[in-house]
Amino acid sequence: MGARVEVEGVRKAFGSGGEGVVSEALAGVSFAIGSGEFVALLGPSGCGKSTLLNLLGALDRPTSGRVLVDGGDLALLTEPGRDLYRRRTAATVFQFFNLLPTMTSLENVALPLLLDGVPPGEADARAASTLAEVGLSGKTGSYPWQLSGGQMQRVAVARALVVSPALLLADEPTGNLDSRTGAQVLDLLGGLVAGRGVTIVLATHSADAAARAGRVLSLRDGLLEA
Ligand SMILES: Nc1ncnc2c1ncn2[C@@H]1O[C@H](COP(=O)(O)OP(=O)(O)OP(=O)(O)O)[C@@H](O)[C@H]1O
Ligand SMILES: [Mg+2]
Repeated sequence: MGARVEVEGVRKAFGSGGEGVVSEALAGVSFAIGSGEFVALLGPSGCGKSTLLNLLGALDRPTSGRVLVDGGDLALLTEPGRDLYRRRTAATVFQFFNLLPTMTSLENVALPLLLDGVPPGEADARAASTLAEVGLSGKTGSYPWQLSGGQMQRVAVARALVVSPALLLADEPTGNLDSRTGAQVLDLLGGLVAGRGVTIVLATHSADAAARAGRVLSLRDGLLEA
C-alpha cells in the first residue's frame, strides 16, 4: 500500500548567517498526492526539489506549514517515531546511488533490514528476492565497482524497496545515467507503482524523465507553477 501525502502551505527558510538575510527555498507550497500515485517534481537547479523531498522524508522540518503522511503531521512525530518513519515508511533513492563500496549487492540491500533488527537469514532472503525483482538475481555477489551505473541504481532501488516502504522518494535518480539506462530505471519505478502500489515522488530537472510520471508538479523559485 502506498502513502497519502498532503503538503499544506509549506515554507522553508535557510538562514544565511549574514545580516539576518534569510533565503526561502520553499515559499508556500501546497499539494496532495494519492496513495499509489507516481508524481514528478520538475524544476531547475535550486528551485527547492531536494528541500521538499527532505521534508517528505522527515529529514528536515518546514519553517511553517504542514506535511501530512496518511493524515499524520510529520512534525508531531516523536524522535523514535521519526526514526521508524525513516526506516520503514519513506525510503530514498539518490543520484549517486550511495551504495557502500565494501559490500556486495546482497549486503547493501540487506543492510536496512539488519539495522531494523531483522534476523540475518531472513534479511538475506528478502534482499535476494528484492534483487530478483529489479532484475539483478545474477549480481547478488557483485561489488558496486563491478556493476554498471544502471545496475548500481537498481541495487539502490532494491535497497529502498526491501523495507516495503509506502513512500519512495527519488532525488534525480537518473541524473548520473545515460538516457536509455535512465529510462529503464524510470520504467522500473513505474512498475513498482503498478505492482506494489508504492507512492513515488521523483525530483528531476529533466522534462523527459518527469513525463514518465503520472503527474508533474512544476517547481520554480520555491513555488509551484499553475
Ligand atoms: N542546508 C541549506 N542551507 C542553506 N541553503 C540551502 C540549504 N539547502 C538548500 N538551500 C538552498 O535552498 C535552495 C533550494 O535548494 P535545493 O537543494 O532544494 O534545490 P534543488 O531543486 O534540489 O536543486 P538541484 O537540482 O541542483 O539539486 C537553493 O537556493 C539552496 O542554495
Ligand atoms: Mg537537489
